[in-house]
Amino acid sequence: MAVETPLKGNIGDSIRRKEDDRFIRGRGNYLDDIMLPGMLHMAIHRSPFAHARIKSINTEAASAVPGVIAVVTGALLAQHKLAWMPTLSGDTQAVLVTDKVRFQGQEVACVIATDPYVARDAAALIEVDYEVLPAVVSPQNALKPGAPLIRDEKEGQTNNHIYHWDAGDKAKTDEAFSKADRVVKLDTFYPRCHPSPLETCGIVADINSATGHATLYMTSQAPHAHRTLFAIVAGLPEQNIRIISPDIGGGFGNKVPIYPGYVVATAASLLIGKPVKWVEDRSENLISTGFARDFHMSGEMALSNEGRMLGLRVKLLSDNGAFYADAQPTKFKAGLFHIVTGSYDVAAAHVEADGAYTNKAPGGVAYRCSFRVTEASYLIERLVENAAIELKMDPADIRLKNFIQPDQFPYKSATGFEYDSGNYPKAMQVALDKLGYQELRKEQAEKRKKGELMGIGVASFTEVVGAGPGKQYDIAGLRMFDSAELRVHPTGKAILKLGVKSQGQGHETTFAQIVTEELGIPAADVEVQEGDTDNTPYGLGTYASRSTPVGGAATAMVSRKLREKAKKIAAHLLEASEADIEFDHGKFFVRGSPSKSKTIQDVAFAAYTNLPDGMEAGLEGVTYYDPPNMTYPFGTYLVVVDIDRGTGQVKVRRMVAVDDCGVRINPMVVEGQIHGGLTEGFGIAFMQLITFDEEGNCLGSNFTDYLLPTAWETPRFEMGETVTPSPHHPIGAKGVGESATVGSPAAFVNAVIDAVGHLGITNIDMPVTSDKVWEALNKVGAAE
Ligand code: CDP
Repeated sequence: MAVETPLKGNIGDSIRRKEDDRFIRGRGNYLDDIMLPGMLHMAIHRSPFAHARIKSINTEAASAVPGVIAVVTGALLAQHKLAWMPTLSGDTQAVLVTDKVRFQGQEVACVIATDPYVARDAAALIEVDYEVLPAVVSPQNALKPGAPLIRDEKEGQTNNHIYHWDAGDKAKTDEAFSKADRVVKLDTFYPRCHPSPLETCGIVADINSATGHATLYMTSQAPHAHRTLFAIVAGLPEQNIRIISPDIGGGFGNKVPIYPGYVVATAASLLIGKPVKWVEDRSENLISTGFARDFHMSGEMALSNEGRMLGLRVKLLSDNGAFYADAQPTKFKAGLFHIVTGSYDVAAAHVEADGAYTNKAPGGVAYRCSFRVTEASYLIERLVENAAIELKMDPADIRLKNFIQPDQFPYKSATGFEYDSGNYPKAMQVALDKLGYQELRKEQAEKRKKGELMGIGVASFTEVVGAGPGKQYDIAGLRMFDSAELRVHPTGKAILKLGVKSQGQGHETTFAQIVTEELGIPAADVEVQEGDTDNTPYGLGTYASRSTPVGGAATAMVSRKLREKAKKIAAHLLEASEADIEFDHGKFFVRGSPSKSKTIQDVAFAAYTNLPDGMEAGLEGVTYYDPPNMTYPFGTYLVVVDIDRGTGQVKVRRMVAVDDCGVRINPMVVEGQIHGGLTEGFGIAFMQLITFDEEGNCLGSNFTDYLLPTAWETPRFEMGETVTPSPHHPIGAKGVGESATVGSPAAFVNAVIDAVGHLGITNIDMPVTSDKVWEALNKVGAAE
């Protein structure tokens, strides 16, 4: 029985983001805003070559510059056993080079100075004598016999092969292919791109030489995990390390790995006894920190003549750069790429993945994606588009024919995932209706008669987010659970501390809303704190859309714990039996007489002033939540394009995005997340690429070469939603932060292919630039 209208800030309320007040006014506190007394500054000297043996390093000129305090080389770090560090994928990575450089932009030496500009000028004066070696810039060449050996320091490493891994059932898949009427093939490349957050990476390392305590202010998406790894790598006692991750200007996976700059700045602070700040510039961020994608994929789909998908066979070659440093759960060598069957009921699938070292920066981060799901989603959706062309079927119809049906959930995929819930036909229908699909198909047919190129791209996607369960998913051995600690103070105001860490997603608002829903304390009265390892419970951090499925669940669970205690206190205050107390939106009342009630604020006060006999004081608790399964958000994206035959220019006319992330905590925040993700997907599809010349020079190391979409070229997005709650999540929410970037690149590219497929053009690799489109048209005699 409801006793009053819901308080503002419940789940489903689009309240404004609390944190925006300080962000919009330029009052955020980012890493570079941190100034400590006596603080020194670090700059990095990086390799101009992709592959070169170091014969000698001369630091004399750099050391002589007034203001320079120290020059750190690999040799110095080696004396402290810090020249190499472990990566998140169980490989090793050079901190500063001791033998040879393995990618352009690799960290060779560091200068510590009293002023950041002095540090940079001095770093340029470091003289390194290189013996240049041939560079390996493609994984195909890396695996050829006789290719230069990149990781010659690794014992037993005789070639550039990193791993072989497979998932699914090979025999069953072979059988499905032997029975197929048709097989559709696609070789495609998902190019190397970069999360390029607005704020680059940095650290202020402050080691107190009197106490030995290390305070590390870091742009970290996973402060607790980083603290543990720092303790293990540097041999510092964990209780003496405090990582503080202040406001973060975007992470998108880029701030998950541990970078050499963090380690050197910390070592320098330890050796010198003063705080040391290092903040990378844009080019440093683009050439040396965690890239994303760089997957060469080959897919085959077995089909019946009626368009039923019978089997899927996928081969993948991953370009991992010089160190295998993918940020992903350790049990999965190619992340969660094996979710490649997507939204379809495919009985048999087999995925084989190989990874190769090349002379490029390491990375493989979950850039707005849950561990390589973006690549998987792209491949399956491009394959379905080509299957539709091959079978002359409508791209929406072939999908509707093959979707996992609502009554099939929970659904076990051929490669081992258990999808929790979904209603794919519904999401598709909402999108088709919103677009006016059938009318646009008629328009397309008319245009085609006149020789005009118009395309309608369809892509349906299924994400898999919210790692754990910890038994199956871990990062460097640390189980992927998460946590929430909630304290309600006597006046009914609360502090919620989390193990996750926002980089702009709005946690200060949305997690407060979960408390509002569960306890009735207005969101404005709930202060959310994250990112300080001394003051928040242990958690694995924010990436791969895991905060809401795991940290959000922990928040709901801890709130419920407190509600149980609050109920006991309310019974005491109302002089009733606990069994007769009901709770609704912040009020406890005796069943049947709602006028006799106590608010959560009354109860909070009583928790410190008027308790039942024998009860501990206070209203607080902590929950560590290990989810029983991932959550599976999904959606359908539709894109309409017009292509100019004379220039190859693709104009996105419309885009409709229908997402289902279960229960939306704050619909406005969700829409913002989707807008950002769609914009990034648009950039990847049409504009972005980090590539390398034959010598391994990085082409894409600044924002004139690596293009970010601006408001000028970004299309308008028309949004829609369906709501299919996750059955195992306490509030039915699924993660959403990444879905749009996962699902949209295929929709954009499929729109182009839909426009030109009838001319025999069935693939144009991303980024789909005007040049490439025009060339493809020219090849088939269709360019003007
Ligand atoms: O881990 P990350 O915060 O990047 O991703 P997420 O858990 O998908 O959440 C992104 C933002 O959207 C957070 O502020 C969430 O609380 C919010 N969200 C929501 O309001 N409702 C959902 N069903 C999912 C996310």
